[in-house]
Amino acid sequence: MAEQFDEILNSTSLGEVLQSRRSVRGFTDRQIDKDLLTHIFEMAQLSPSNCNTQPWKTYVASGEACDKLRNDLVECVMSGAPQELAFNYFGDFKGEYRKRQVDCAVALYDNMGIARNDKPARQGALLRNYQFFDAPHVAFIGMPMDFDIVNGLDVGIYLQTLMLIMSAHGIASCAQGALAYYPKPVKAALNIPDDIGLLVGLSFGYEDESVAANKTRTPRASLADTVSFAE
Ligand SMILES: Cc1cc2nc3c(=O)[nH]c(=O)nc-3n(C[C@H](O)[C@H](O)[C@H](O)COP(=O)(O)O)c2cc1C
Repeated sequence: MAEQFDEILNSTSLGEVLQSRRSVRGFTDRQIDKDLLTHIFEMAQLSPSNCNTQPWKTYVASGEACDKLRNDLVECVMSGAPQELAFNYFGDFKGEYRKRQVDCAVALYDNMGIARNDKPARQGALLRNYQFFDAPHVAFIGMPMDFDIVNGLDVGIYLQTLMLIMSAHGIASCAQGALAYYPKPVKAALNIPDDIGLLVGLSFGYEDESVAANKTRTPRASLADTVSFAE
């Protein structure tokens, strides 16, 4: 079975995978084959990390566990519970970063047909995060609470590796910082130890192409804005 999955990865070009991965915010209810699910997380273990510490701790929920968590999280958010991030997040973007943030939101809301001043619709769109965009699977990814930003780099690399492997297998995903905001119901449902802090969640499954949000494409900054070469 594993060879069959390896074959798929080996026959897919990196360029193809990089081009096909994008954030998908609407999924069908089709479950991923259990062996493939295991294989994906096994392959993601190949991610590099500082001193090979592999600080990521990953908790995957599927089926009923995923549905229960979806309900718990929506209830938690709707109840007005406070956000409790385990790690610092700087989200007060300015200048070029603010522009990219706004452009990204506008692209998504335009595709969803949500007007700028339509607050209830925007809140509904935010809530979709906690419904995992209807995905049949979700992964919560964290690291030990006493680790810091540089260790977070390792988890970021792991996250991208995971998403690319999924893409190679035709599986769509959306990384979600929003899924780290309300850790209590998540930790309770998935038996996550107190000393593990959540960094990000990942909703994943097969794309529902009929969902308007999935028409969203985001541009990238020019090389001149992000990379400099010296000789
Ligand atoms: C660490 C991280 C956190 C993210 N958090 C969210 C989120 O909470 N909700 C969401 O809808 N998208 C989230 N995204 C998706 C980004 O908006 C998306 O990656 C970006 O706009 C680029 O678009 P693309 O993934 O389609 O290439 C997140 C992405 C990353 C890498």
